[in-house]
Amino acid sequence: MDERRIGVFDSGLGGLTGLKRLMKLLPGEDVIYFGDTGRVPYGGRSAATIARYTRQDIHFLESFSVKAILVACNTASTVLPQLGGFDIPVLGVIEPAAEAALRATRNGRVGVIGTAATVRSGAYERALAGRAETLAVPCPLFVPLVENGHFRPGDVVIETVAREYLEPMRDFGCDTLILGCTHYPLLRGVIGEMLPGVELIDSGAAAAERMAALIRSRGLESGRTSGSVEYHLSDDPEGFERLASVFMESRVTAGAKKVDIEAY
Ligand code: DGL
Repeated sequence: MDERRIGVFDSGLGGLTGLKRLMKLLPGEDVIYFGDTGRVPYGGRSAATIARYTRQDIHFLESFSVKAILVACNTASTVLPQLGGFDIPVLGVIEPAAEAALRATRNGRVGVIGTAATVRSGAYERALAGRAETLAVPCPLFVPLVENGHFRPGDVVIETVAREYLEPMRDFGCDTLILGCTHYPLLRGVIGEMLPGVELIDSGAAAAERMAALIRSRGLESGRTSGSVEYHLSDDPEGFERLASVFMESRVTAGAKKVDIEAY
């Protein structure tokens, strides 16, 4: 038993898609969620800047003496190997998503879509190397479009952009596609229509499953039956409830506290 909280962070609020699955799997855990809303998006930044931000995000959560950290952001997860060892388990999304894709594929062709930084890092190709043929395509417009409400099937803006981005995936012939960005699970309907029969892997959900397994296997459960989430953001929490409700796919009424992340 371990009463400490679990830390979860993302470059913004997209990581709530992973948090949602984590809360379902571990309903008795208390969670601290940090969204770097003051510096989002990470996906167009250099690896050095992403590494600096990610280190600060981890330090902030460590200041609460959390028992484990889930890096619910794909872009931040790509720099974890260069940040070195941690005293507590720090889990990213890349490896769990790659393993889920390998379990799902039948033809050995796995597509990856993500931010420019995630694709440029080659992290997914490395995780899949020698075990699947891989094609990674950056989809930089997906994040702002989702945040501005363009994510439902029938929305002509997102469908036009998605058709263009996903064309290489059709030619590649993958039967499994890693949604390598927090925002893409909301595009399941749109992507599913364009790539019928292709298995879509939710990276945040795969990582949440890995975290739940780790908490159980190490005997780190809280022992309680219900838990809570405390939200911290690096920008003013204005608009938090609206966007958080989009990613959680249910109404979020909790408030959020503002943190000066540059101090960590
Ligand atoms: N959370 C980021 C990811 O999963 C997407 C948003 C951003 O670019 O910061 O890669």
